[in-house]
Amino acid sequence: MAKIAAELLKWYDDERRDLPWRSHPGTRPDPYHVWLSEVMLQQTTVATVKAYFEKFLKLWPTVDALAQAPLDVVLKEWAGLGYYARARNLHKCAQVVVHEHKGLFPDNEEHLRKLPGIGDYTASAIAAIAFDRPAVVVDGNVERVVSRMFRITDQLPAARKPIKDATTKITPTRRPGDFAQAMMDLGATTCTPRNPKCLLCPVKQGCAAQKAGDMERFPVKAPKKIKPTRRAISFWLVHRDEVLLERREPKGLLGGMPGLFSTPWVERSDFPGLTEWQQNAPYGASWQLSEEIAKHTFTHFHLETRLAVGHSDKRLNIENGFWHPAANLEEVGLPTAFAKIVKLAL
Ligand code: ADE
Repeated sequence: MAKIAAELLKWYDDERRDLPWRSHPGTRPDPYHVWLSEVMLQQTTVATVKAYFEKFLKLWPTVDALAQAPLDVVLKEWAGLGYYARARNLHKCAQVVVHEHKGLFPDNEEHLRKLPGIGDYTASAIAAIAFDRPAVVVDGNVERVVSRMFRITDQLPAARKPIKDATTKITPTRRPGDFAQAMMDLGATTCTPRNPKCLLCPVKQGCAAQKAGDMERFPVKAPKKIKPTRRAISFWLVHRDEVLLERREPKGLLGGMPGLFSTPWVERSDFPGLTEWQQNAPYGASWQLSEEIAKHTFTHFHLETRLAVGHSDKRLNIENGFWHPAANLEEVGLPTAFAKIVKLAL
């Protein structure tokens, strides 16, 4: 077990990915950087997160600065990263750290877990990476590496417990943060879902699946559920050079984000008919329906949207609505689902 950690750390010293939130070897990273990157990385790829991480640090170099930013601005800058509850929790967490913890992140898992938006995974990652605590860090990459190494045949999510136990056995007390990140890097670059590069693996000697030659079987997953498709019409109402946008309800999917007024997003086999969708229009314009369809996939469903285009003589005041110049919509920070629909209009 100790040999696995030692080999992996040696590999990490040579092969580690150069990522903007990582400190130089031998130095402790700033807990604010670790927290920010881990929240961004919760459901988003390293490649996407890099630019957002750097932008956020430029805008808000410290947790105090982030806590003082208006929530709307944080949501706007988060646009495109998805899972917007993360951005609201990020902002809330910054305020709790500043107002209840004197601006310092708690240095252990138990206290970290009490902060908004910090679950088991993120608490363990921050404790290990920022504070050198021997926390057991299991993300999707680690799940794959460990389930192969120990050939854990239980199906996820039941496999979580044996995977965590096995990870506990190999997590060292020295350099636990580097160990966690080494596991992540190994999973991302070498112990990949398909065609793992076992020849390059520093711990292949200790890998049961590699010996059995059935690496790709792990982690064992339940068959994927097929996602239903929801269909809707969105409304593009123009007054002079402005377009009507909706500020969405604070709770729920894309909560608090800007978007277009739409018919309800419901699972159905075809688009709402004319009389149906016109009832949902924010204004009784003479609407023109587009032929093209914008497609976006959320965690639990696909969304297909067609666009109804209308004009208004007046700059109407509509509940939860606001007008914005159509030429400058990029400054609004639309979630990707709406950005795709807007593209149809433009
Ligand atoms: N995924 C989640 N956290 C990460 C980290 N610190 N380094 C690389 N990939 C990650």
